[in-house]
Amino acid sequence: MMGEMMGRPSRQLFPELMKVPTLTPEEHRRVEAEARARIDAGNAILSEAQGDFQRAMLEDDAAAMSRAAVRQREGLALMDSGAAVLRALADGKPPQQIALAWFRNQLSLTPVAPTSTDRGVRIGSFQVSWFHFITMIALAFFAVAMAVLTLAQRRRAAALIDRLTSSTPVAFAGHPVVSGAPDLPGSLPRQPPTQATPAPRADQNAAAPESGAFPARKTVKKSWSGQLRVSAIYRETPHVKTFRLGDPSGGPIPFTYSPGQFLTFSADIDGKKVRRSYSIASPPTRVAYVEITVKREENGTFSDYLHDRLIVGDLLEVSGPAGVFTFDGGGAESVVLIAGGVGITPLMCVVRYLTDLTWPGDIYLLFAGRSTEDFIFQEEIESLQRRCPNLHVAATMMNRAQGTAWLGFEGQLTKQVIAQAVPEITRRQIHLCGPPAMMDAVRVMLADLGVPRSRIKTEAFGPAIGALPPPAPQAPQPPPRRVAAALRELEAAAPGLASTSDTATGPATALVRFARSNRTAPLRPDRTVLEVAESVGVPIDYSCRVGTCGICKIRLLEGKVEMEVEDALTAEDKAAGIILACQAKSVGNLAIDA
Ligand SMILES: Cc1cc2nc3c(=O)[nH]c(=O)nc-3n(C[C@H](O)[C@H](O)[C@H](O)COP(=O)(O)OP(=O)(O)OC[C@H]3O[C@@H](n4cnc5c(N)ncnc54)[C@H](O)[C@@H]3O)c2cc1C
Ligand code: FES
Repeated sequence: MMGEMMGRPSRQLFPELMKVPTLTPEEHRRVEAEARARIDAGNAILSEAQGDFQRAMLEDDAAAMSRAAVRQREGLALMDSGAAVLRALADGKPPQQIALAWFRNQLSLTPVAPTSTDRGVRIGSFQVSWFHFITMIALAFFAVAMAVLTLAQRRRAAALIDRLTSSTPVAFAGHPVVSGAPDLPGSLPRQPPTQATPAPRADQNAAAPESGAFPARKTVKKSWSGQLRVSAIYRETPHVKTFRLGDPSGGPIPFTYSPGQFLTFSADIDGKKVRRSYSIASPPTRVAYVEITVKREENGTFSDYLHDRLIVGDLLEVSGPAGVFTFDGGGAESVVLIAGGVGITPLMCVVRYLTDLTWPGDIYLLFAGRSTEDFIFQEEIESLQRRCPNLHVAATMMNRAQGTAWLGFEGQLTKQVIAQAVPEITRRQIHLCGPPAMMDAVRVMLADLGVPRSRIKTEAFGPAIGALPPPAPQAPQPPPRRVAAALRELEAAAPGLASTSDTATGPATALVRFARSNRTAPLRPDRTVLEVAESVGVPIDYSCRVGTCGICKIRLLEGKVEMEVEDALTAEDKAAGIILACQAKSVGNLAIDA
């Protein structure tokens, strides 16, 4: 409007010049008049804008000053373009160059002095300068490079998604989108619901290789044995450390696993081969490493070894993964995870996995700890809780460590705490892991709350974290006459082959014959085959002693056994007469291939 009111010349003039092969004298005059009109209009706008600017300054009106400055620039631009055309006309340039002079001016490009040889390049019916030609080529290269890069990025993303989904299938169908549920007592204030992202760990980037430099997994194995290298060690609490393990060749970990599974480690410790199982605490979504989080047990053989002797760079013998204590979000709309002490490790894997995937169901995490300083993963859990509206955390501590603040529940985990923390618990799936004594107590509480047994999945970490009471001393009892007679007979026939020693004698009701070792021992109904074997010096390998790792698998040659937990046995194992020595008990005679 302002331009038209000031008689600003039309901008169409200069593009039209491009079409004219040469200027006639009449056109020359018209262009010159147009250029001068442009200069006059620019000058008028500039003068008026200068006046406006001074007035705005006096009135201290910053907005008006900005507007006046914009108009001054407009005026200057008009004057400048008019002057450029006059200069081109005076130099006797062809019309295209006059037009180019104006365009350059508009684009703030430095004018290129044309030489007699600088006629540029002809593209179709267009004549362009070398400068423009090179710029166009560079832009074309840039566009092609960007297209190739985008394509490569898409391929990498697709490959990653493929890898993750093929290793850990998750069924989301039918899950409602969760709106923020109420916070639990003792939980932290939440941030407004945002897209859930994995909580940052202070160490997270420390040892993870850069994604760009990371080789793809060659073969994805469900069960594997080999070596993993310690890439980092983190202290979580005064008694708990996390060990990050990676493929020694620097690639992705060479197996896949489900959240909640464990690995079995073996090491030569003081001249003896020792095996122990540890849950994988890191989620399968992170393919560059696995982490185990280990509590140092008092006088614990393997946990002491890991805490005191293992250093970054060491190799560990590993086999697995194994275990059926898993949850990947499929087939459930919510999950309740109840952890005691270091029993949180497989459940933390589940929490990390579900939050990594922005699983939409409700996750209730209940933690029972001895002391506030033993709250493993506390910072990370709090951070996740702030980010993920569907993660509800409640924790209870037996003691408050000096110098720590604690706003959660105090004392043991009780029925009341569980009921308060988890609404409608009877319709939810429950995963429970912790010391056996705590697990037994929680099972009773859940039964009192009306939770069907079928909804509870458990994993015990065995005697190590269970603080199992030592076996009560029992007065030696004579074996039944039938067994005693059999043992006497055996001893007479082959001295040294029958064992009548130790606690295994007790109220034995049957005999167990270890065929390969050629030894026979009395079998009490409350003793496992593994315990009896140990008492008479028959070697049977073991790790978990709770029926999950499968290390103690052994062939039953004769007889019938009962096993409380047989998670580690497959249908083929059972068909082949394989039993778990750590679980097998019997009231009848047995023959074992050991
Ligand atoms: C599936 C599974 C997953 C597990 N995951 C984890 C995990 O993530 N983190 C973790 O920290 N642990 C985990 N454990 C426990 C772990 O496997 C070990 O049992 C634990 O680390 C202790 O082993 P250790 O060799 O240090 O102790 P051990 O040498 O086995 O001793 C354990 C404890 O028993 C005591 N003890 C040993 N022998 C006797 C005896 N004759 N009489 C009385 N007391 C005795 C010791 O003093 C010690 O306190 C898991 C166990 C299983 C089965
Ligand atoms: S020792 Fe693990 S199943 Fe028996």
